[in-house]
Amino acid sequence: MTSWIRASLIFLQILGQVCRVEFKYCQEAVDNVEIVTSCPTSEQEWESAANRKNCQSTAAQQTCSEPETFLYHCVINGYGNETIEVCAPRRLMIGYCTEFNVAGGVIQSHVLAPCNKTSVLRCDDVYYSTQAYKFLLVRCLVSKLN
Ligand SMILES: *[C@@H]1O[C@H](CO)[C@@H](O)[C@H](O)[C@H]1NC(C)=O
Ligand SMILES: *[C@@H]1O[C@H](CO)[C@@H](O)[C@H](O)[C@H]1NC(C)=O
Repeated sequence: MTSWIRASLIFLQILGQVCRVEFKYCQEAVDNVEIVTSCPTSEQEWESAANRKNCQSTAAQQTCSEPETFLYHCVINGYGNETIEVCAPRRLMIGYCTEFNVAGGVIQSHVLAPCNKTSVLRCDDVYYSTQAYKFLLVRCLVSKLN
């Protein structure tokens, strides 16, 4: 991807995060955090895990985001030492592994773990936080980085 497209995307994401309210602390997401031993690694596993977690049941009541974007995630925590399942507002990710920061109550970049198309931590230039499983981004766990 050319650098101006990347720059535009980064600019748009920053703009989006400044303008929208949906990336603030989300109590409803924090309330449904569950520590798990592993994350789905295929679309099928993802679908059955998402069905089990049933984020739709709370999507309509929560006030963090539009119901359609309050979705199942299986990601690392902010310390990078646990995998967690959480229904939370989806975010666009650029250049980093995805974490759910429990203290901050948001899905965000795990800044200690950059990822890209050529690095060991492989990811697309831009991806939705819900898609982290496609790139096996649980490898961003501290224990697996060493
Ligand atoms: C993860 O790290 C935090 C902060 O260092 C610690 O409080 C917590 O117990 C750790 N969890 C595990 C499973 O090691
Ligand atoms: C990809 O990530 C690696 C490791 O962080 C870094 O050294 C490299 O410069 C990155 N490549 C691009 C194209 O961003």
